[in-house]
Amino acid sequence: MVPTQSESVVAGNLTQFEYLALNSSLNLADGHARQELTAGQSLIVEELPRLWAAAVKRPVEEVERDAQRAYFELLGQHSHPADEGRVLSCYSSSVAMEIFARSLASRAQSIALIHPTFDNIPDILRGVGLRLVPLDEEALHAGDLDDVLLRSVQCVFVTTPNNPTGRVLPESGLRRLAQQCAEHDVVLTLDTSFRGFDPDAHYDHYAVLNASGCRWVVIEDTGKLWPTLELKVGWLVSSADVGLPLAEIYSDILLGVSPLVLSMIERLSQDAAAGGLADLHRFIAGNRAIVRGILGDVPDLRFPDPASRASVERVDLGDRSGLAVWTALSKHNVFALPCHKFHWADPGQGDHSLRIALSRTPSSVAAGSKALRTVLLDSR
Ligand SMILES: Cc1ncc(COP(=O)(O)O)c(C=O)c1O
Repeated sequence: MVPTQSESVVAGNLTQFEYLALNSSLNLADGHARQELTAGQSLIVEELPRLWAAAVKRPVEEVERDAQRAYFELLGQHSHPADEGRVLSCYSSSVAMEIFARSLASRAQSIALIHPTFDNIPDILRGVGLRLVPLDEEALHAGDLDDVLLRSVQCVFVTTPNNPTGRVLPESGLRRLAQQCAEHDVVLTLDTSFRGFDPDAHYDHYAVLNASGCRWVVIEDTGKLWPTLELKVGWLVSSADVGLPLAEIYSDILLGVSPLVLSMIERLSQDAAAGGLADLHRFIAGNRAIVRGILGDVPDLRFPDPASRASVERVDLGDRSGLAVWTALSKHNVFALPCHKFHWADPGQGDHSLRIALSRTPSSVAAGSKALRTVLLDSR
């Protein structure tokens, strides 16, 4: 059930802001994929009864392995583990996150977490009692992590590509970070939910992690790429020696995900490998150009993530308040996301920006951007 609008909801977390947008035709709030199916994807949806009949006849393990192989290979993750128990299929990446967090909390007290990032990550980590230490995104990209920080935590958590900035940890950065984590016996955890959108995030992360000798966890997510009405999988992937009770906690929560969903993901991955992924990249770039084209000449406005290829775009509103602009925009029935909650340790840093979702029809992105332009010009 989605809560109705109220003052308390307006003051809540990012997902509560996203609930408010769910029934609007101009929902530019959540990062889930809501554009139309492509011709190739529509054929796969028509194929679902056949995929169902085939999935019923096959061992789940086989269906799962085929889906994993297709998805990981699509995104360049050739060294992903194939052995038993190393890739746990979850209903969503948040469920994978919850399992990871509960497992970590049974062995650890403190975690360094990238700042800013999507707020359900800190919320889940805090929910299991972990102490969170902010790891500034700029500092992460600037060079080695501080030894004092690494000695004070048992895990470092990085979202790459990050949400909302789209920033990707490059291969050299991941290699050095993994080495540092190995030296300090700190678990390195990555959330790669937005990986599919950016070819810079398609280098083989598992090869780098394996070579480093660190203990690692990766949360992969099929849920942001394709408009599949919330049918998705979060994969919880770990190193052989991770030393966390991931499989035990997993078994507290679920038996497995639907083989129908897994079969659909395998087919969507094949379609993407045959050209669909390049089409998606062009589609998102086109929507980003629409936003920048419509808003580009609004005074005192900036796009702070010029290199981002993620399916979201941040807009820096200058001295205007993100919450005030969000409120004015919602009166036009257009919903974006104010950014203060992404800055989970210091919300003030996000007080003057909005995030616009790009996995939408180009006409919604254009209509939403035009309404935002009107609101911003009226506020001068
Ligand atoms: C980086 C990141 N990880 C995980 C999630 C959670 O995804 P889901 O709602 O599909 O569980 C989100 C949601 O937008 C996200 O941005």
